[in-house]
Amino acid sequence: MNEVTSTRLFIIGKNGQVGRELVEYAARQGIDAVSFGSKELDVRDRAAVLSSISEHSPAVVINASAYTAVDKAEEEEAQAFAVNRDGVENLALACKALDIPLIHISTDYVFDGKKGSSYLETDQASPIGVYGASKYAGEEVLSETWEKHIILRVSWVFGIHGNNFVKTMLRVAASRPELSVVNDQLGAPTSARSIALAIFNILSARSFDRDGCAWGLYHFSGGKVVSWYDFAVEIFKRAESRQLIECAPLVHSIGTKDYPTAVERPAYSGLSGDLIAETYAITAGDWQSDLDEVLSALGQY
Ligand SMILES: NC(=O)c1ccc[n+]([C@@H]2O[C@H](COP(=O)([O-])OP(=O)(O)OC[C@H]3O[C@@H](n4cnc5c(N)ncnc54)[C@H](OP(=O)(O)O)[C@@H]3O)[C@@H](O)[C@H]2O)c1
Repeated sequence: MNEVTSTRLFIIGKNGQVGRELVEYAARQGIDAVSFGSKELDVRDRAAVLSSISEHSPAVVINASAYTAVDKAEEEEAQAFAVNRDGVENLALACKALDIPLIHISTDYVFDGKKGSSYLETDQASPIGVYGASKYAGEEVLSETWEKHIILRVSWVFGIHGNNFVKTMLRVAASRPELSVVNDQLGAPTSARSIALAIFNILSARSFDRDGCAWGLYHFSGGKVVSWYDFAVEIFKRAESRQLIECAPLVHSIGTKDYPTAVERPAYSGLSGDLIAETYAITAGDWQSDLDEVLSALGQY
């Protein structure tokens, strides 16, 4: 553990999927961390952000907070931008004023999904909806404002805490014998725990916070790209074998055109993990084993 992880971390978004994993990981490792939900620190409040970071004087700030309601964002554009763009600017300004590195999380939804193969960090973002646009605006303002930053773009987050596709599928399995899931949107499921671990691995890298640190944008996702249909089938198969559900529902494969949502999703949002592997020796996870871990933990509740 280097000097960064042996001093205080400042974690924002402690009640979210990734935020909770960050807080729990820090506690397990005995790393000093202060953490905040939106009630304790609202990232939209510029003065509060500066004063709180200044008061705690952390070695690193990690932003796991975001406005994440993809469909609702279409009607709540101002709210989405207030958190995902302006909130990030507030954090970047405070971190710059105090010379503190900022780790920020972004999304595969900055892409339109038309490339058809894994996206690189050098590919041009082209968000389809308000959520993706607000997250991209947050990336831009951070990279323009404060050099000492890492932006980690992740995809299809699932985990033990919060709301996600895995938990939705388990709820559905308890109440319905069959369901339809889209088979023409592809991405890589990524566990919240693996994202937290990737962040701690970056912090532990020998080069972090020293001259020559590889600041910037990195992609991190859970390995094999699948469709939501494939993911649902895998969730049911593994949940049934663990007796988390009585019987796997019958899953019908449908197209996006048969499942209209307020905003289109990228058809293909695989993220190449080559850069983070080369730079930080962090390899893309394996979402199947992470799924087993999450199902096992959910079975114990
Ligand atoms: N979920 C996905 O599938 C997905 C996919 C790709 C990328 N991402 C990105 O991954 C990151 C983590 O996502 P997640 O799934 O862990 O999110 P999440 O579970 O929705 O949690 C987001 C947290 O942000 C906090 N928050 C919202 N508005 C805030 C504000 N104004 N001030 C301070 N905190 C605020 C909320 O805090 P309270 O609960 O305390 O109100 C919430 O717990 C985000 O950057 C997201 O964009 C997520």
